Amino acid sequence: NQVSLKFPKNFLWGGATAANQVEGAWKEDGKGWTIQDCLPYREVGFSDFTKQFAYNSKDLQEALKAGEEANYPKRRAIDFYHHYKEDIKLFAEMGFKVFRMSICWSRIFSDPRDEKPNEKGIAFYEEMFKECKKYGIEPLVTLSHYDPPLALVQDYRGWYSREVIDLFVKYARVCFERFGKYVNYWLTFNEVDAMLRHPVTSGGLIEDMFDDIPFEQAIYQAMHHQMIASAKAVKICHELYPNAQVGCMMTKLCFYPFTCKPEDNLANQQRMRSVYRYVDIQVFGEYPKYLLNEISGKGYHINKEEGDDQILKDGIVDFVSFSYYMTSCMAADTSGLDMAPGNTVNGVKNPYLPSSEWGWQTDPIGLRISLVELYDRYRKPLFIVENGLGAKDKVSEDGKIHDAYRMEYLKDHVKAMSDAINADGVDLIGYTWWGCIDLVSESTRQMSKRYGFIYVDMDDYGNGTMKRIKKDSFDYYKQVIASNGENL
Ligand code: BG6
Repeated sequence: NQVSLKFPKNFLWGGATAANQVEGAWKEDGKGWTIQDCLPYREVGFSDFTKQFAYNSKDLQEALKAGEEANYPKRRAIDFYHHYKEDIKLFAEMGFKVFRMSICWSRIFSDPRDEKPNEKGIAFYEEMFKECKKYGIEPLVTLSHYDPPLALVQDYRGWYSREVIDLFVKYARVCFERFGKYVNYWLTFNEVDAMLRHPVTSGGLIEDMFDDIPFEQAIYQAMHHQMIASAKAVKICHELYPNAQVGCMMTKLCFYPFTCKPEDNLANQQRMRSVYRYVDIQVFGEYPKYLLNEISGKGYHINKEEGDDQILKDGIVDFVSFSYYMTSCMAADTSGLDMAPGNTVNGVKNPYLPSSEWGWQTDPIGLRISLVELYDRYRKPLFIVENGLGAKDKVSEDGKIHDAYRMEYLKDHVKAMSDAINADGVDLIGYTWWGCIDLVSESTRQMSKRYGFIYVDMDDYGNGTMKRIKKDSFDYYKQVIASNGENL
């Protein structure tokens, strides 16, 4: 039952980025190293993120010694650090109401153990927020988007160490105190469920540094510490700014049963439940029993301190935000079935869906299904903070980028959102397109996997002028926003 296109009056349209994928300037103004500065570019083909994610202490040692000529794409990214005024001006021209970005912890504390923050890092973000406000753009700020400070990785074994909670809380407090007058919407950890899929970037955990404990157990422990840190940050923000909204952020993976066999349905239900296991904690304030069973069933346990349960209860989030790109299928027995690559997970290929050039299966109906599932489960306002299409854009002879495929993707997903709001009764408060300006891909570290409405002249090897060019989709998104989603 499709209904006409309609969005709430104050719907927050905009775009999203993350510090490590756009800023560059990796050593400037007192910024400390993050793990992202140590991830090399690898020729792994379009979809093999597992090879890209493989990482050990030897890779880290090589990164520490690597010279200027070595290809570590996040070190340069798209140099947003020096281009932010020009870029935010372009966002404003598209009519953005909101801009999602993340703060790099290592800019605020060069070393997370420092007592005093780095004033130059603070000044950078303060200027950026002022620039947003100048155009009436609301910043939506992620405190931690896949860039743990390197000192945590090397000296604490990442989030496995409980001491990291206090270091994070100190950092979060500084952000709230110094930026709270500009920022009304906060997110604590990006894709908070992701550590079990990529422990290095989510948790700063390198497997060969754990020979005293099963690595998976260490990840569950590190996840517990992030849950506590997040809850403490939520509480502090609420105390300082009672009107501020703090959300959780999850990877909204979506699977369908491959057949109607009960076994496939059960496998699918269990897979889908695992998508929610950590957000359940952030919304309901306690571990769900099925997650505790999962941990104990593997013979692991989590070390908790007295008071942890109360901390989780006191740090319940105000809204639920998520990334959504694609869907795939789940079967009880996947042997012999075609698999489709996706957002850091593989699933069984769905014969009814088209795929992007990277094999991600495009599915706007899956977005509507996801919105309904999330709203029925949590009854909290929802915010889509990532959605988009990575594609190999070409600059045509006329100097323009004709990306009709991106406009099509956007149109279909906006329609799905409208249906979820108007037919299904979902409370959706905003939408930020991922990579509103081309940026370095998270999973493949390619620049050639482009998401933006704005093209950045730079290739996978760092060649290019960094010039910004509006794509055809730039004007299209402008029209979508100007009509509040009614003119597609
Ligand atoms: C999300 C991440 O998982 O997907 C982003 O939060 C990432 O950081 C985005 O960029 C798209 O993935 P990719 O691998 O195409 O960059």
